[in-house]
Amino acid sequence: MLSYLYIAGSSNGRTSPFEGEYLGSNPGPAAMFSGFLYRNIVKEVLFLFPADSVHEAFLKFGKKLGNLGFFKTLIAKLWRYDNFILEQNLVGLTFKNPIGLSAGFDYDADLVEILPSIGFGFNTAGTLTHEAYEGNSPPMLGRLPKSKSLLVNKGFKNKGVTKVLSTIRSNTNLLGISIGATNKPYSSFEDMVENLVSGFRDAENFNNFNYYELNISCPNLLNIQNLNNKLDSHSGLKQVLTSLEKLNIKRPVFIKMPLEKSETETKELIETASPFSFIKGLIFANLAKDRKNPTFNTEEIKKAGKGGFSGKPTEEKSNQLLRFAYKLCHDRFLLIGVGGIFTAEDAYRKILSGASVVQLITGMIFMGPQQVGVINKDLVTLLKRDGYNSIKEAVGAKA
Ligand SMILES: Cc1cc2nc3c(=O)[nH]c(=O)nc-3n(C[C@H](O)[C@H](O)[C@H](O)COP(=O)(O)O)c2cc1C
Repeated sequence: MLSYLYIAGSSNGRTSPFEGEYLGSNPGPAAMFSGFLYRNIVKEVLFLFPADSVHEAFLKFGKKLGNLGFFKTLIAKLWRYDNFILEQNLVGLTFKNPIGLSAGFDYDADLVEILPSIGFGFNTAGTLTHEAYEGNSPPMLGRLPKSKSLLVNKGFKNKGVTKVLSTIRSNTNLLGISIGATNKPYSSFEDMVENLVSGFRDAENFNNFNYYELNISCPNLLNIQNLNNKLDSHSGLKQVLTSLEKLNIKRPVFIKMPLEKSETETKELIETASPFSFIKGLIFANLAKDRKNPTFNTEEIKKAGKGGFSGKPTEEKSNQLLRFAYKLCHDRFLLIGVGGIFTAEDAYRKILSGASVVQLITGMIFMGPQQVGVINKDLVTLLKRDGYNSIKEAVGAKA
């Protein structure tokens, strides 16, 4: 145990890549034991309760832990894994490791204090909107364990950009905020775009975060379904970006891309974004809507309520779009991969497909929070196995 604590907490000498990294087993005993407990006991119990309540309880608990310095340090010692091979400077930001928390889990930025200890290299809060929204009618979350997926029907539940950003005291990690249009009826597309831009205008009053995500691809905005569909078209996206350009945003903006688009449609969106220099990256991709996806367990999908799906049903398509985008525009945009990452192999596949960094939610819920450090540690093993001295060398190698 002690040797693992030493390894997990060490920042590693910089004389040789990989040196001093493999004194413990892989994954280390503390993380392995936590994972075993989580998957066999904690998760089994949590999954007996409604997903909405468990999520809320987890956020409250995480927020409390984040205020307790001792626990933060202990958790970091047990779970966090650092290695300079995993570090990258991209679009003016330093990513300590390539594993980020994707938008939607920490929607009101309650976990900003605890997430670095768990091991994330960056984390996105939101999606936030100009006005607060209490969420779609419950249930807002569901579980499809056999399909390794979650049903999501939140519709941007959040307290609003200004209120959330006012509560963030500090962030030791890279923190991003995802912004979308408030989920309410509008008289026109122009009104909705104005609302979305107002969200960015609100956020520009704060210096306590590092990057933006522009969410044009949420599948469960029940109050604005028709208008929202236009956001991920050439004309709709161009209108949004033209309005946003006027804000003269200096922090990098990444677009959260839709999943279920053809390569031709994706190319059109990429070409639309390309002339706007404040757009620095593209995230592939958001939730799945298509219930015919063969990854779903037939019984589970039949019973699923309203909403979009995360996890394994998003993996193959998001990797395909990533490879496509890498070939098309990796010299123009930072590419971020998300969808179905449960293990280091899953993350590595996205990196080889063209992602410089990746994000996850569902893998953490199914495998346990310690999995973030495990993935980072195992990623180093995979890079070493394939003869890479840094992540950069591996990005896009199999695109
Ligand atoms: C509970 C939940 C809420 C989500 N809410 C948002 C959101 O508000 N904005 C967004 O861009 N994506 C949202 N997503 C999508 C995720 O950011 C991610 O793209 C998707 O879940 C695929 O990653 P995963 O398989 O690792 O979960 C949400 C996903 C989940 C599971």
